[in-house]
Amino acid sequence: MKEERQLIMLPGPTNVPDRVMRAMMKPIINHRGPKFEALYESIMENLKYVFQTKNEAFVLTSSGTGSIECAFSNLVNSGDKVVVPVFGFFSERLRETAVRRGAKIIEVPVEWGNAPTAEQIKQVIKHEGNVKAVAIVHNETSTGVTVRDLPRIGKITKENNVLLIVDAISILGGDQLPVDDWNIDVCFAGSQKCLTGPPGVAVISVSDKAWEAIKRNNNRPYYFDLMRIREYSAKKATPFTPAIPVFYALDEALKVIREESLENRFKRHATCAKAFYSGFEALKLTPYPKEDVRSNTVIVVNVPSKVNCEMVRQVMRERYRVLIAGGLGKLKGQVFRIGCMGIISQAETLATINALENALADSNFPVDFSAGVEAARKGFQS
Ligand SMILES: Cc1ncc(COP(=O)(O)O)c(C=O)c1O
Repeated sequence: MKEERQLIMLPGPTNVPDRVMRAMMKPIINHRGPKFEALYESIMENLKYVFQTKNEAFVLTSSGTGSIECAFSNLVNSGDKVVVPVFGFFSERLRETAVRRGAKIIEVPVEWGNAPTAEQIKQVIKHEGNVKAVAIVHNETSTGVTVRDLPRIGKITKENNVLLIVDAISILGGDQLPVDDWNIDVCFAGSQKCLTGPPGVAVISVSDKAWEAIKRNNNRPYYFDLMRIREYSAKKATPFTPAIPVFYALDEALKVIREESLENRFKRHATCAKAFYSGFEALKLTPYPKEDVRSNTVIVVNVPSKVNCEMVRQVMRERYRVLIAGGLGKLKGQVFRIGCMGIISQAETLATINALENALADSNFPVDFSAGVEAARKGFQS
């Protein structure tokens, strides 16, 4: 059967450059030997560049959720007070992971489509006292919201000696996130999103302040024990068998990022995001998030009334070979979600808007034909 390429505009996994895919064809090597050490060293150097950190960083053989589990199981114990702003499906999951660790959750409820503010976090920390950590999803993939107040939240957690744990799964490598400057203690992401790798590994950074808490924790997990991972990392190794082909791919993907530079990469994502928003607005599709918190890496727009989300996605997939995602949790059937990640450029942006325009027309939604593509195209010209 002929394999047809699709344009993967999901908010992860995303399109992986051929160069990165080819890296996985290298022979399997012994993960206790010099070749793996060289690979590990190369990954570490570029990973710290991506995190913009002098802290230690690690690669975990797991999906992004593994890194959430790793962070909580190393830092949070029964009864610890953890502040979790909840403003979408993935922050609900973050809360759930902390609950499973026995943490005493102090939830900061935020309306979906909006983001928590530094002021809210400040008040909660002050009011509660004795808070161990603030755990926050920086880019809510379910609502297309970025927490633009994160640098200020980092200042507050630092001043109050509270740990800051950041789920950057759908944003690291696609938008500004200087881990050290923003005082983030633990930050993690998955390989399959803005890092432009295949699914299979997660990355995590750990600050000195976090190490102090980890050392004191005598109930650390077995597989994700960061103390043990650190020991092996000093020898350019991992405690357990790593997903070697995905490590090769991650190495190549990080090299691609370094060659482009973070600055250029962030600009490219921001330009494409802006074009998406203008294109969709021209099609009279309203963005789900509030304007000042809209993400540059995940674009979420409301499904117009009387339009069947699943049918439009199916037409896009089968007729135009463009994959986009639908809503999660209470937004099921109500929003389209598009990944503006990784290789994203004018070509993918216009092709996606064009496919959505056509699929909406095919579904009898009255569209002002080409208005979306034209508005987005203008965005690129300016
Ligand atoms: C913000 C966020 N957190 C967690 C996850 C879960 O990651 P994974 O599916 O790689 O385990 C995702 C996946 O989309 C995400 O976007």
